[in-house]
Formats: sequence, C-alpha cells, structure tokens
Amino acid sequence: MIQLDRLTRRFGSFLAVDRVSFGVGKGEIVGLLGPNGAGKTTTMRMLTTYLTPTSGRARLAGFDVLDDPLEVRRSVGYLPENVPLYGEMRVREFLRFRARLKDVPRLKLRRSIGEVVARCRLEEVENRIIGQLSRGFRQRVGLAEAMVHDPPILILDEPTAGLDPLQILEVRDLIRELGDRHTILLSTHILPEVEAVCGRVIIIARGRIALDERQEDLRRDTAIVVEARGPAEAIRAALQTVPGVERVTLAGQDGDHAGFQVHTRGERDLREAVGLKLSANGWPLRRLDLRRSSLEERFVQAVTQDTLADAHREAG
Ligand SMILES: Nc1ncnc2c1ncn2[C@@H]1O[C@H](COP(=O)(O)OP(=O)(O)OP(=O)(O)O)[C@@H](O)[C@H]1O
Ligand SMILES: [Mg+2]
Repeated sequence: MIQLDRLTRRFGSFLAVDRVSFGVGKGEIVGLLGPNGAGKTTTMRMLTTYLTPTSGRARLAGFDVLDDPLEVRRSVGYLPENVPLYGEMRVREFLRFRARLKDVPRLKLRRSIGEVVARCRLEEVENRIIGQLSRGFRQRVGLAEAMVHDPPILILDEPTAGLDPLQILEVRDLIRELGDRHTILLSTHILPEVEAVCGRVIIIARGRIALDERQEDLRRDTAIVVEARGPAEAIRAALQTVPGVERVTLAGQDGDHAGFQVHTRGERDLREAVGLKLSANGWPLRRLDLRRSSLEERFVQAVTQDTLADAHREAG
C-alpha cells in the first residue's frame, strides 16, 4: 500500500531524509519512531504530497506522489503534526466542508459524516465551535477529518501528542479499531503506544532508517547479563564465538571483574552455553541473567549506533 524507494529530502545543504526505503502492506499498522528532528514529519509530508522529495520515489495505493498527487490525496487521510482546524466552525459543519473538498459525493455526505462522528466519538460535541473544544476533542476532530473520505491509508503524525492519559487510551483503541479497515503509518514518541498498537516498528535517526522490525521479532530478542572475573577483552571475544550470539558489549568493569550484555537472536536460551564457555576458560562466573530487551533499549541502541556510525564515517 505504501512504498518508499530511496526517498530523500534536503533543506539547503541539510539532509533531513536520506534515502529512506520501506514498504507497508495492506492492513499493517506501522509505528515510525525517532528522536526530535529525525525526519518523521518530513517523510510523512512527502508521502502526503505536501512536500516535494529531492530525490527517490514514493507510491501510495499504487499512485506516485509526483505523478499522481491528486490520486494520492484521495487515497490517504493525513493527520498533520499541528492540526490546522478552522476554529470558528462547528464540528459537523467543518467535517461537511472538508468532505466536500475531498469530493465525497453529496448523496454520501450525511452517512460519511455520521460514521466518522461515531467512530471518533464526537457525538456530544458535533454542534460546538471547534475553537472552544479541549485539545483532545480537537485532536479527534482532526482524526475524523483525516478519514471522512474513507481512504484506504491513514498517515497520522503524533496522533496522541498532548492528550491526557485517558484520551491517549481512547485514541489508541480507536487506532487499533481503524486498523481493521485502513493501512496505518503513525509517528509517536510514546513507546508503550507502539507496543500496544503497531505490528511493526521503524526507527529513523538523522534521516535514516536505523531499525525496521516486526513487533513479534523484537519481543524475541533477548540479552544475557553476564558478570565474570578475568580479562575483559578476552572474555568478550570468547563470548562472541558462542553460536547464536549476535553481539557482546562491555557494560562495566570493576578491578578484575567485568559485566557484559550478550545479545542473542532467536528463541534459544544461551545461558548454559555462555556459562560453559566461561568455565572452559577458567573465568569464574558472578552473574548470569536472561532479559527480554525492551523497545526502549532497542530505541537507545538504534539511535546511538547511528550516531556512532556517523562519527566513524566523519572521522574516516
Ligand atoms: N521547511 C524546513 N526548512 C528547513 N529545515 C527543515 C524544514 N522542515 C524540517 N526541517 C528540518 O528537518 C529535520 C527533520 O525535521 P522533522 O520535522 O521531519 O523531524 P521529526 O522527526 O518530525 O521531529 P519531531 O519528533 O520533533 O516531530 C529537522 O532538523 C528540521 O529542522
Ligand atoms: Mg515531527
């Protein structure tokens, strides 16, 4: 449904989005994460035709953002970062106005508006002036506006930003429901939100993709916390050779004791193999714990790794 191919955007000499490629299949709910300034909004604005790519391509529902911008807009509902609502209009009146602009046929207007009012739970405010609504309700009006033409794709830029915890839960439930009928790309800074609603996570850092993984695969990643006595670098190198180990990082050192994080892939519990490797070398073991790695850890990892890679490249 959504296909990006080396999508790139420069502002002057600054690369805001750097050759980003990924695809989103029909019915997927994908969370786009990344630190402030990573390029999430810029990417979404290109996907919704509000910003022209410097290079690369993007297709939505089969339409190219450059060749068929009108068809793209017809296929996509967009909730921008700063919802530009018409403050002096009443909710229903506004939705009608927007629906007309989006070419919803006159005969279908009443039903389309009734539907989004119900789905976004706007019944109690439908005749109120938008400018006088609380932020949470205005956000829901923005969502209703995004989907009033019943597009197959929804692109939501921080849909729960600024909402209270209860409203966050409500909007989250709503998004999950919407997933039945729409393909959704959403950005957020709230990691539990991603865990709750997204089947897949894409992390972008400094304009580049740093991680693209399905939630169930993320959950399978484990880390083993190891503390042992012996030469840190030799221990690290030895652990790295245990089959199934992806990466070993030195977590800390205290005299001749060292702590490591052993990152593994797959279902297997490698604690025994790690323990055996240490005892075979005569390094006394102090601690051996299994931990599921959290999305938060992966986020920090992905973002800092990217920064390290950059520093490396700039240095070399
Ligand atoms: N119109 C513009 N002109 C110049 N620079 C811009 C413009 N729009 C965005 N940028 C820059 O591009 C980078 C990416 O911005 P973007 O808004 O996409 O980040 P973001 O990931 O959405 O961040 P946030 O989490 O804060 O919303 C930032 O450094 C930003 O300053
Ligand atoms: Mg943004």
